Amino acid sequence: MNATANLEGSGTQLLVHGGVGDRPRLLHAGPTLPGATAQDFAGLSERQHAPGGPQLPVAPSLLNPLGTGYPGPPGLLLHRDGCSWAVDLRLVEYIEPSASLTVVTRDDNAGVTVRHDFAIDASTGVLSLSASLANSGDTALDLQWLSAVCLPLDPRFDRIMAFGGKWAGEFQIEEWQPVRGAFLRENRSGRTSHTSFPGLYCGTSATSETHGPAAAFHLGWSGNHRLRIDRLPDDTLALQAGELLLPGEMRLEPGESYSTPTLYACWAEDGHGEATRRLHAFVADQVGRSVPRPVHFNTWEAVYFDHSPDRLFALADQAAETGAERFVLDDGWFGARRSDRAGLGDWFVSEDVYPDGLGPLADHVRSLGMEFGLWFEPEMVNPDSDLFREHPDWVLGVERVDPIASRHQLPLDLTRSEVSDYLFERIDHLVRELSIAYIKWDMNRDIQHPGNAGGRPAVHRQTRAVYALIDRLCAAHPELEIESCSSGGARADYGILQRTHRIWTSDNNDARQRHAIMRGAAYFLPLRVLGNHVGPKRCHITGRRFDMHFRAGTAVFGHMGMELDLATESVSDRGILKAAIALHKRHRALIHGGDYHRLETPAQLAAIGVVSRDRGEALFQTAVIDQHPSPHPPRLRFVGLDLQRRYKVACVWPTFLVGEPASFAGSALMQYGLQLPQTYPDTCLIHHLEAEE
Ligand code: DGJ
Repeated sequence: MNATANLEGSGTQLLVHGGVGDRPRLLHAGPTLPGATAQDFAGLSERQHAPGGPQLPVAPSLLNPLGTGYPGPPGLLLHRDGCSWAVDLRLVEYIEPSASLTVVTRDDNAGVTVRHDFAIDASTGVLSLSASLANSGDTALDLQWLSAVCLPLDPRFDRIMAFGGKWAGEFQIEEWQPVRGAFLRENRSGRTSHTSFPGLYCGTSATSETHGPAAAFHLGWSGNHRLRIDRLPDDTLALQAGELLLPGEMRLEPGESYSTPTLYACWAEDGHGEATRRLHAFVADQVGRSVPRPVHFNTWEAVYFDHSPDRLFALADQAAETGAERFVLDDGWFGARRSDRAGLGDWFVSEDVYPDGLGPLADHVRSLGMEFGLWFEPEMVNPDSDLFREHPDWVLGVERVDPIASRHQLPLDLTRSEVSDYLFERIDHLVRELSIAYIKWDMNRDIQHPGNAGGRPAVHRQTRAVYALIDRLCAAHPELEIESCSSGGARADYGILQRTHRIWTSDNNDARQRHAIMRGAAYFLPLRVLGNHVGPKRCHITGRRFDMHFRAGTAVFGHMGMELDLATESVSDRGILKAAIALHKRHRALIHGGDYHRLETPAQLAAIGVVSRDRGEALFQTAVIDQHPSPHPPRLRFVGLDLQRRYKVACVWPTFLVGEPASFAGSALMQYGLQLPQTYPDTCLIHHLEAEE
């Protein structure tokens, strides 16, 4: 067996070095270094003895466990009743099928075997990394932390972009400068979370959208997480990412094992934009599903809990007439759910509200040429519900600790098979009975006290049980599409996206704020999966008013939908909305399949574009968020075009600025730019570009 294992694909390279019995070392993970060998790294990194330091410094290994004496933070923490904490993992073997690499390591004294799985996606270069730990000893073992790996980073990286926020303010970008010590993001919310998205971008102070070294990392997991980047005293930089385990949560009996969630990593030499495009292409390949993505009508902000068949029939008529292709009946159709205080868990159509059931509405929706979708929040229960009255013990909680009130609901314990079976039976039955094509799967609270029957914390098992329930439904209904929603965008990650097809990005339909939310989310998630809806004239979250041109133009870039009471919109505004939906449909193959670019603009603008793979066509969205500081707006420099070709450029939105196309050189459009028109703030301009023959 070679003492070096090399994995390469699409510009990404991973090089592990170490013979049997050695501690394997990750020499390089990043852009391909053509011809570089393990000997090169050994020679180039040779150091003299540092005064005051150990005579033989400990080199980093794949997890740096405590038994090695490595001075940095360990990527593995465990013990057996307070002992056996000093693990020292040595190489057993490399298993090297073509596009992946498995590194098996073991410490016989500690009774621990760890298997590292690495795979490079051949078309995008995105690297998937995970680790599995098996208890090969003969007593129980308490696992406290297992990072997918300890990943050495380019020490030049001096900027970290983190993503977080709050309900209705997701995916806000925060910039950090890693100084010596740790940059740490921890999430204990029991879901992916609003506040700490499990993803980071790294770059240097000189990295831009189009230039410079960049890297992106994402943990594909919908439960608790920990991400850290440490700069050690010797200036080396390393990333760890894994599941944040609560005390006692992961106790492995002899023979049992635990696998980390997958860490996704990608590198780019041409700026943050290239890293984003690699991730988008990777996710698009994984998610698949109906293309073109159907335009949604969602009932939430139109009716909230005030359901009535007459009103919903009329809404369906108006939705279809405006261009909707899928009608999603949101919260409020079941049990005693006339507000958020009651009924959750009782997944039976309300006979009070729908005396004839939901069949007539579903049929009516289909007769209008739309798919019928239905909202569920399977993981939760209102204490004021038949389900809770019958099964008060079906919830997660901690004895003698009062549950934290949150939207009048408690989390069900899905690790109990009778709970998951009940949910499966109910949803499966309704999907069959109503021929449901689409489920909006919601989850509306953090889980602060995730104890289950044995008293142990159960976020890990609960997250796996949610995945298993969705997988079971998808297996029973292979055509079913599912939207992952969690009070907006609190469950948006590649773990949930392996089994769902759309993300509800945010409850905030404020067209001005939506640009920042969509831009943040799109660092990791392609526009085809990001729900983007036209909301009411007066935004229900911020109270601000926006005209229809701005609301509708904003929603064109994403998986478009609407979520408003069409009956209260003027005839003229309904006409504008219809025109925006038609525009979206005309260009959605490009919006959902083209290369995504962020433009670097002054702060009063937010601009993005999608460019076809052959650079023959492009669509750019420019939102004027605030007044320009100078009398004239700036020129917009397009990106991603072909410098050698000429393009016909036309403003296609708003309708009152639509003009005839004019011809310009691609080079001039990119390097000189197009003068933007004088407009009010809160205007959304869309330009269409087509290469000339
Ligand atoms: C939170 C979601 O984000 C909303 O879109 C809506 O579905 C409500 N829940 C319903 O309770």
